[in-house]
Amino acid sequence: MSQFKVETHGAAEVWTIDGASRRNAISRAMLAELQGHVARVSSGRAVRVVVITGDGDKAFCAGADLKERTGMTEPEVRAFLDGLRQTLRALEASDTVFIAALNGLALGGGTELALACDLRVAAPAAEIGLTEVTLGIIPGGGGTQRLSRLIGPGRAKDLVLTGRRVGAAEALTLGVVNRLAPEGRLLETALGLAQAISQNAPLAVAAAKHAVDEGLDLPLDAGLKLELQKYEIVLASEDRKEGLAAFAEKRPPRYTGR
Ligand code: COA
Repeated sequence: MSQFKVETHGAAEVWTIDGASRRNAISRAMLAELQGHVARVSSGRAVRVVVITGDGDKAFCAGADLKERTGMTEPEVRAFLDGLRQTLRALEASDTVFIAALNGLALGGGTELALACDLRVAAPAAEIGLTEVTLGIIPGGGGTQRLSRLIGPGRAKDLVLTGRRVGAAEALTLGVVNRLAPEGRLLETALGLAQAISQNAPLAVAAAKHAVDEGLDLPLDAGLKLELQKYEIVLASEDRKEGLAAFAEKRPPRYTGR
C-alpha cells in the first residue's frame, strides 16, 4: 500500500502522508517511500518545490511508528534512525526546495521531518514538539541539532528538555515556522510560497539554498567565500543573462535552468 498521495501542481508536488488513522507516523515502509520520492525529485529538474503534509486534520506526523517500534530490536532501531537521518540529509542536499505544511500535530520525528525542510507553514491548529524525553529517548533524527541552529540553543533547550508541545502562534514567534496560514487555507498558502520560489531561476534558488545551509557552521569569512563560490555558478549561467534581458525588455523572465 502506498504511504504517500502525490499530486502535481505546476512545478510543485504535494506529498501527503497517507496514514491518518495512525496519525501519519513514520514506519519503515513510509520512510523507504519518502527516501524514494526524495531521490526521484532530486535526480530530475522538473519538480522545483515539494510540499509535504499529512492526511486528515489531526496530525502532520506523530513521529516514529511506536507500534512498529515496540517489536524492534536495538539494532533495528539503530538502522531505522540511520535511514531517517540519511533521508533528511538527502532532502537538505537536494536542489529541490521542501516546504512542510503543518496541518496538525508534528511530534518527535514529525517535527524533525519539518525541521529538515527548507520552510514551514502552519495551520492555526498545528502544534510541534520534540517529545522524545517524555518517552525516555532523545531526538534521533537531527532534532537537537537542527532546532538549535534554527532558533538558538536556549530556545531549543526549552523545547527539547521539557518535551512540551508548542502551538502554531508560539512556533511562529519562536521562528520554528515561517508562516501561519489562515484557517482552511494551508495548502493554498504553501503552494503560494512554492509558486513564488519556482518562478525564480532554478540554479539561483538551488545555489542560494545551499549557500545558506552550508554556510551555517562556518566562520563569517569562510561563509563569505562559500557564497562567492555559489555566485560563480549563477554568474556563468544563461539565466543570469535572461534575467537582465527580461528586466530591460520589461517582461517576465523565461528561465531554463541553464
Ligand atoms: N505511532 C504509531 N501509532 C500512533 C502514533 C505513533 N507515533 N501516534 C498515534 N498513533 C495511533 C494511536 O495508537 C491510535 O491507534 P489506535 O486507533 O489503533 O489505538 C491512533 O493513532 C490515534 O491515536 P490517538 O492517541 O487515539 O489520537 P489522538 O488524536 O487523541 O492523539 C497523539 C494523537 C499523536 C497526540 C497521540 O497518539 C500521541 O501522543 N502519540 C505519540 C506521539 C509521540 O510521542 N511521538 C514521538 C515519537 S518519538
